[in-house]
Parts: sequence; structure tokens; C-alpha cells
Amino acid sequence: MTLILGIESSCDETAVAVVRDGLEVLAHTVASQIDLHVRFGGVIPEVASRSHLEALFPLIEDTLSEAGVCLADLDALAVTQTPGLIGCLLVGLSATKGLALATGLPMVPVNHVHAHIYGALMAPTQSDLPTGPQAWVEPGRPLAALVVSGGHTSLYASHASADHRLVGRSIDDAAGEAYDKVAAILGLDYPGGPVIDRLAASGNPTAYTFPRAKVAGLDFSFSGLKTAVLYAARGPNSNRRSPLLANLCIEDLAASFQAAAVDALAEKLVRCAQAIDAQALVVCGGVAANSALRERCTREAAALGLPLYLPTPALATDNAVMVAGLAQQLFAQGQLADLSLDASPRAD
Ligand code: KG4
Ligand code: ZN
Repeated sequence: MTLILGIESSCDETAVAVVRDGLEVLAHTVASQIDLHVRFGGVIPEVASRSHLEALFPLIEDTLSEAGVCLADLDALAVTQTPGLIGCLLVGLSATKGLALATGLPMVPVNHVHAHIYGALMAPTQSDLPTGPQAWVEPGRPLAALVVSGGHTSLYASHASADHRLVGRSIDDAAGEAYDKVAAILGLDYPGGPVIDRLAASGNPTAYTFPRAKVAGLDFSFSGLKTAVLYAARGPNSNRRSPLLANLCIEDLAASFQAAAVDALAEKLVRCAQAIDAQALVVCGGVAANSALRERCTREAAALGLPLYLPTPALATDNAVMVAGLAQQLFAQGQLADLSLDASPRAD
């Protein structure tokens, strides 16, 4: 049995989890900073790091006590080391180093993007699928993994828990970033994804024909779509606040934007699955909480005759369950770090 404490602080959620054997969640907590950032319309890195600093140790204590374990029961400490906001990553990493020094526990550095993929394999919504590393039912055949969040929109040919080969990515904005920017254009709160998702449910997705970017291969582009929404909402003279928005139906704009974003994501995921002869699809990251994307990917997976790994909406956004889960695999492979480890804002 392996018991791992996971720590996640790469962006605006401070999260801690205790996971047994890479799959069984004993406790997990997430302290969201949304209330702090909402008045700025986005994440302010310095505010985020300071908030992680305040939240992290009480959260570790609470999570350990909820799991009914103490530090001495653990086998390893896992921490998100890359990619993310450097100040935020450093708070989690420094705290983990302190705990490692005090306890003598080994430290497992985790890649946040890889953790999102592993997280989807831990407890997929379709509950009859083989979980964790068992998802690779046919060795040698990859999974097609779409990681779609505020910081990333990437496609991977995933060959193992920690062997993910990038085959496509956004050449400009991430999809979650586009959701957040479109929300700001429409005068809605940060983070925009959940708000647009909700409004879109009562809008007409064909009210506006927003562009589906023609990007070569398996890459994405979302900045043209964002600009198209800006023009539709405020008119071509977008530098000044136009009274136009007052006369428009926000629900229709939200639904039409969402239809274009989901089309782009789903089409490239399908193309990727075919190109790499995938044995299953994975959709993960904060935007994987989106109801339209979930429905569409479920339909596409059925049409392809492939299993679909989708995390529950609560575990699609940032959490430490995925960090502690993936760390179990890395720990088993001996992928440990010493106290000289540094955080890295960009994954290599
Ligand atoms: O994975 P995540 O929590 O953080 C990053 O690693 O970026 O993703 C956050 C992103 C935000 O851009 C947020 O607007 C988006 O995920 N998001 C959604 C939904 N819930 C969160 N986007 C669309 N629909 C949602 N329901
Ligand atoms: Zn994330």
C-alpha cells in the first residue's frame, strides 16, 4: 500500500489530497481564490501566491485529519512543479520541501498537465471503464488526450501515465482563456467558463455564425473567435464601450460562442484519435467541466466506438487528487527529487 499527500498550487486553487495506491481518495480539499480575483477579472499572480501561502498549511492539516492519517503514515509527498505561475508553484514546492526535510519523506515532482490526464483516468464518469494505468488495455496503442483549461489547449498521444507526446496545441489563446475573455467582453464575472456554460443553456447556438478557425493539422486557434464575439457585442469600433451590447441577447452570444469553441475542440480530438489510432479518448482540464463539450465528446466517442475518459466536473478543474494519483505511478518508477528541485513555469 502506498499513501501519498498531494499538493497543488500552480494557479488560483490551493488544493491538497491524500490518495492511497494511486486511485483511492481518502480526503481532498480545494480552497478556491475566485472571490479574490473576481474584482480584477482574472488571476493576479502576486495575490494568488500570497493567498496560497495563507491557505496551504491549514489545508494540509485539515486534509490529513479528514483522511484520518498523520505525516508519519505517508510514503511520499507529491507537488505540482510545472507548468504554472512561478510564484504560485514556489509556494507549494517550498512547503513540500519543508515537510520533506522535517519528515524525511521522499518528494515526487508532478507535471500539472500530465496530472490532469491521469486524473481523468482515476474515476471517469463512465464508471465501467478500467481505471488508472489499466486504461491502456492494448499496450502500444495510445489514448488521445485533450487537455483543455485556462492555460492549455493541447492534444497528446498518451502512451503511459507519464509518457504524453504533444501532437497539437493552441497557437494563441487557450480555450478556457477564450471563455474568460469572452465573459469579460459580455460583462460577466470571472471565471467565465461556468457562467457562459449556464447562460448558453438558454441561448440559441445558431443565432450568430462565429468563425471556426482553419488551423493546419491538430493545432487550435481561439483568438479570432474571441475577436468575432467582441465585434458582435460592441460593433467594429471595439475600443470604446458600445451601447450595442444592451440590445443584444447575451444568452445567444454565449451559446453561439460555445458552439464554435466546442466544434473546434471536438473536431480536432476526433481527427487526433483517427491519426494516432487511439484506443480511447480523454478530455480533461477545467473546460472539461463544460456541459456542451461533455455531451459532444460523449457523442463523438460513441460514433468512433471508443471509450471516453471524462473526470467528474468537480475534478475537471484544478485539484490535488490528480497530483497524488499520478505521483503514485512516478513513485513506483523511482522518479523522486531532492531539495535542490526548482519550480518551472513552462513544461519542457
Ligand atoms: O484546469 P483549470 O482549473 O486551471 C488551469 O489549469 O487553467 O481550468 C480553469 C479554466 C478557466 O478558464 C475556466 O473558465 C474554465 O476552466 N472552466 C470552464 C468551465 N468550468 C471551468 N469552461 C467552460 N465551461 C465550464 N463549465
Ligand atoms: Zn489545470
